Amino acid sequence: MLLILGLLGGASAQPQAAPTLNLMPWPANVQQGSGALKIDESFRVTFTGHTESRLDRAGQRFMERLHKQTGILFTNLGGDTAKATLVVHTDKASKQIQELGEDESYTLEVTPQGAKLNAANPLGVLRGLQTFLQLVDVSPDGFEAPAVSIKDQPRFPWRGLMIDSSRHFTPLDVLKRNLDGMEAVKLNVFHWHISDNQGFRAESKKFPKLQGAGSEGMYYTQEEIRDVIAYARDRGLRVVPEFDMPGHSTSWLAGYPEFASGPGPFSVDQGWGVMDPAMDPTNEKLYKFLDGFIGEMAKLFPDHYFHIGGDEVNGKAWDANPKIQEFKKAHNLKTNEELQAYFSGRVQKLVNKHGKATIGWDEIFVSGAPKDIVIHSWRGPKSLAAAAKQGYQGILSNGYYIDLMWSAARHYAVDPLGGDAAALSPEEQKRVLGGEATMWSEYVNWENIDSRIWPRTAAIAERFWSPQSVTDVNSMYSRLEDASQKLEWTGLTHKTYYRKMLQRIAGAATADEFSALKTLVDVLEPVKNYTREETATYHPTNFTPLNRVVDTASPESDVARHFDNAVTAFVSGSCKDTAASAHLRTWLLKWQANDAALQPLEQRSSFVKEVAINSQDLSAIAGIGLAALDAIAKGTSLTDEEKTQATARIADANKGKAQLLLIPAATIQKLVDAAASGGACTAKN
Ligand code: ACM
Repeated sequence: MLLILGLLGGASAQPQAAPTLNLMPWPANVQQGSGALKIDESFRVTFTGHTESRLDRAGQRFMERLHKQTGILFTNLGGDTAKATLVVHTDKASKQIQELGEDESYTLEVTPQGAKLNAANPLGVLRGLQTFLQLVDVSPDGFEAPAVSIKDQPRFPWRGLMIDSSRHFTPLDVLKRNLDGMEAVKLNVFHWHISDNQGFRAESKKFPKLQGAGSEGMYYTQEEIRDVIAYARDRGLRVVPEFDMPGHSTSWLAGYPEFASGPGPFSVDQGWGVMDPAMDPTNEKLYKFLDGFIGEMAKLFPDHYFHIGGDEVNGKAWDANPKIQEFKKAHNLKTNEELQAYFSGRVQKLVNKHGKATIGWDEIFVSGAPKDIVIHSWRGPKSLAAAAKQGYQGILSNGYYIDLMWSAARHYAVDPLGGDAAALSPEEQKRVLGGEATMWSEYVNWENIDSRIWPRTAAIAERFWSPQSVTDVNSMYSRLEDASQKLEWTGLTHKTYYRKMLQRIAGAATADEFSALKTLVDVLEPVKNYTREETATYHPTNFTPLNRVVDTASPESDVARHFDNAVTAFVSGSCKDTAASAHLRTWLLKWQANDAALQPLEQRSSFVKEVAINSQDLSAIAGIGLAALDAIAKGTSLTDEEKTQATARIADANKGKAQLLLIPAATIQKLVDAAASGGACTAKN
């Protein structure tokens, strides 16, 4: 039997629906062996081959993580190679400044006797150490890592996470724990959206009014920025700064109104949206200023790529300025797009002059643009494919906007080489460098940002790292739950924030009341896309507290997903599984009774009161679900009228209320459909 299992395991290069290994991202090649390596206090790691202080620190962090994951106090850190449990061999150094496309491959062999990690350079070692940490789990025999042979390398060389530190300032400790999370899932680019209308967050020594007038005191000093870059380098992450221009630039103009297209004065925006102010592309002094500024930042940020933004210039400030209109005529620039292309061209030359290559959003992709720019596609995969056809490199963020509150599965289904890019030639496809998840920060702060990034970004990281054929959603979710737990050992708070925020909302609640609140919020998700913006009853700003249920509820309800899986399985088995039916009933009874348990708290907390409507809906649809189960159990059908009524009530509950969606509504509709005349589970089917 063991032998058969071993053989079956050995044959599976793909994660199965019920995987035995909780790895994320799934490696390029995995062969499971038999037995396991015990992890106890005698565990030690040693490094051979090329050495450098970064590897020493990686070894220390590895042992700290292993301690946190297991609770074991390790007695001996390093030393004698012959006695080491894990021997790490590094062939040679990586580049002094991490480059796009550097080798990140590694091999990892784990046997009951010991483990070996080999890599060409420290980047592969960093990736492999994370794989080892993911393998370690509790077993009937204490902690162990299963025997396995892994040969791994990434599919795409650019695997990023963008964090918007402008709309809400990201404190340094919050940034760093997210860089740790990035390392854990083998991402390699931290794209730092560091200036926008709402704040200029980087210190310029040449032009101190940038942060002086543009940040309300919340900015990163150059020393702090160097610290973040060093921290990132230790984790195998490049740091690509984005200074968004010529739009999204109110915060620049607060200190330097002379570079604006319209009359000042300007002050940083506190609300969201596309704003009118823009730099004046016709002002020669602007380019002199940008030359100095880009020169300063090019020294501060060592990465080869420099992101100039370029998105969403609405042109109103240009249209309103007669001098700019004259300039357009004189230079035969027919449209504002052509004017922006002129600006981008000038800026790209400055970026080149300071030794860097330009990356920018879709809008910088215009005919005649120099071929060394990278197109960052946010509007759709079409432009990425078009750019690749014309010889431009690009990365994809459309489909990876994690601020839109989509499910992990929905992001996971988006492939940088999907859509129009699927039809590209192999050579053109190589120009698609990868992608980035984007954490726009209108509705995130230090407290809930982790929960909006993780764990969903782990699924996106798998899309960027793992072979294209790794697409099984059930496997992804199964591994994601484990990955999510392990991610908290890096210091991330995407699970623990929840109880704290609920406690603030609940105030002095009884245990039963708190439990009822949690039961409700567990099945709510914030509304999707830009609905929160569209349904706001007040004008939200970056001073608006983020302390409501909508700020607390997870972007994706695990409870609702499990319930949906259970209902789907029950219905597809023609509702014959009585144990499954009993299980669903337990769920529904709890939900039905929940509103009564929560009501006292609605009187004492305004935040709970706001979701009273959602609570009533949950109770009502749970009752409908129970009636459907009753009909199925009795072998009767819901009448047409009963079905119509139930469907209308569910549809009402399925509307966003208090900017929240009640996720089980759609699932309960499945039960109603199954129980109604002619449905999957009625006598007449
Ligand atoms: C963007 O979302 N405006 C890049």
